[in-house]
Amino acid sequence: MSVLKGRRIVLGVSGGIAAYKAAELVRLLVKAGADVHVVLSEGGARFVTPVTFQALSGNTVWTDLWDARMPNNMAHIDLGRDADAILVAPATADFLARLAQGRADDLLSTLCLARDVPLIVAPAMNRQMWEAPPTQRNLGLIRADGVTVFGPAAGDQACGEVGMGRMLEPEELFERLEGFFVPKLLAGRKVVMTAGPTFEAIDPVRGITNISSGKMGYALARACAQAGAEVVLVSGPVSLPVPADVRCVPVASALQMRAAVLDALPGAQVFIGVAAVADYRPLEAAEHKLKKSAATLTVSLTPNPDILAEVAAREDAPFCVGFAAESRDLDAYAEGKRRNKRLPLLVGNLVSDGMGGDDNTVILYDDTGRHPLPRAPKAEVAQGIVAHLARLLGA
Ligand code: PMT
Repeated sequence: MSVLKGRRIVLGVSGGIAAYKAAELVRLLVKAGADVHVVLSEGGARFVTPVTFQALSGNTVWTDLWDARMPNNMAHIDLGRDADAILVAPATADFLARLAQGRADDLLSTLCLARDVPLIVAPAMNRQMWEAPPTQRNLGLIRADGVTVFGPAAGDQACGEVGMGRMLEPEELFERLEGFFVPKLLAGRKVVMTAGPTFEAIDPVRGITNISSGKMGYALARACAQAGAEVVLVSGPVSLPVPADVRCVPVASALQMRAAVLDALPGAQVFIGVAAVADYRPLEAAEHKLKKSAATLTVSLTPNPDILAEVAAREDAPFCVGFAAESRDLDAYAEGKRRNKRLPLLVGNLVSDGMGGDDNTVILYDDTGRHPLPRAPKAEVAQGIVAHLARLLGA
């Protein structure tokens, strides 16, 4: 269940082309169970009509400070009153300037001034407007006033230029808003993780690999980042977007994964091995593509280093968390792996459950015994693992 379920979010939309993305953001918020109330500036309503937001949010859309539909004519007070947060996305350069000055000459600016709830803005503008000293000054002012700023990102802009100023994509805004409400159980901690499979080359076009979509590892990386940790995710080849505020180091083979982990490890308090690392690699990878023939092809394999065991055996070992995917006898095999690798915590799951799908059923094994978590989407399972991890770190 998303932390946004049941939260009342006021979404302000000011007049920029990124307003069209706000419609998708409303859809994501509503899908997560949030109660979304949209307030459009005059400019925002020129880009996307209130009807669109009304249909998506299922709530009345507000644009006018003098709207007589609000019984007491105090939309600027009533809308913010029970809100959990106000998010303005997109926030134009003009809107930021008006916010910095405390202007109250339309519904959205008045609502922001009259609030006693958190205010978050997602800037969106042309790169020169973003870089302009007045905009940067205004950002400094609103940050000092306690406003949270999400983004912007760099990339192609609607004006044809390339640079800083793009509004974050709706999925990333959603993820960051979720993170805003997640308790910061891992604040101040650095977490290094592995996820996905490894790929061990036989020749330039062939190789051996394990089955892993990366979903469990990426969900856990997201949950750690949302809980306030600095996260380095060393990832085998997967096709998933990198979670917000996570530094991803893409690798292919187990040897590359090991090197990237050792490189990222200094300063880490936690290491989590979610990756399905190939236990063996071809003794030698052919430089050129092997030609097909009728003869049997024999590939000699050599063991890969065990990254988790190596990290856990270090004198300065961080708190190490292992994963085990088993096809049977989960308790015995998982607990065996935990003891062999001397891990304070291991997450066991069944291959039939955990690999590839969106949901997972896991059992956590630590020195006090086994702790099953209910079957749930991997995002939720990850939150459960983070909560348990934080308890053990605290202890
Ligand atoms: O990616 P998904 O599709 O969401 O699937 C998730 C998952 C099933 C892959 C994941 O939840 C999981 O269980 N990962 C561990 C898979 C496994 O059984 O690994 P293992 O038993 O080979 O290794 C045990 C532990 O040692 C793991 O933490 C592994 O990352 C680590 N290891 C193993 C071998 C090796 N050479 N180096 C390692 O670090």
